[in-house]
Amino acid sequence: METQYPHMLSPITIGGVTFKNRVWTAPAAMFLLNDQTSNVSDASIAYYAAKARGGSAVVTVSAQNMDFGRQDQTYHGYWNILDPESQRSWERLTDAIHFYGAKASLELLAFSYHLPNKRGEWEEYTIDGARGTRKIDRAAAQKLARLYAASAQAALDCGFDLILAGTASRSRTPSRRTSTTVATSLAARLRSAPSCRS
Ligand SMILES: Cc1cc2nc3c(=O)[nH]c(=O)nc-3n(C[C@H](O)[C@H](O)[C@H](O)COP(=O)(O)O)c2cc1C
Repeated sequence: METQYPHMLSPITIGGVTFKNRVWTAPAAMFLLNDQTSNVSDASIAYYAAKARGGSAVVTVSAQNMDFGRQDQTYHGYWNILDPESQRSWERLTDAIHFYGAKASLELLAFSYHLPNKRGEWEEYTIDGARGTRKIDRAAAQKLARLYAASAQAALDCGFDLILAGTASRSRTPSRRTSTTVATSLAARLRSAPSCRS
């Protein structure tokens, strides 16, 4: 029988990693499944394990926000992969995904990035300084890059196989220069980071 996507269910090797098929689940945050701790809840683990059980080669977990200091809004969620206390729950999550032969990917997201201003108030940053926000500058971009790199390393430590780096999703007209600063700095840091998996 002819199919439109004949290779969809066959394995593929990318960068030395073999994926059992070409079905990757999209990131879809389910923060309401979590409690107000830095841990991944049992309900979230069951949600992502079900995606793996369904046969996807990659299950994308969404998302570890970069707003670590700003956990007072439900849509940010409370996950904190940098908190050593939460590491066991993240390992249980990746174990549950691996159990079904899928790879685990973690989305790192600057969903609505915040920094304290001189008065100690939290201010929202976007790449283009959209209404009600400040435009991200080089120092803020570098701080953000450090958070991405530390989170990516922690994700590897907890058993993730891939990282999906998302930035400033609110920005309608991303500044190429700032995006490149973040991406280049992140790539350099990841290259020099010792691998915990080798
Ligand atoms: C309920 C829901 C939650 C989502 N959460 C995220 C998210 O946390 N991060 C993200 O990058 N995209 C998120 N998305 C976007 C999806 O990953 C996807 O890009 C989008 O649904 C478009 O895919 P489609 O064309 O297959 O529908 C979400 C989408 C939905 C419907």
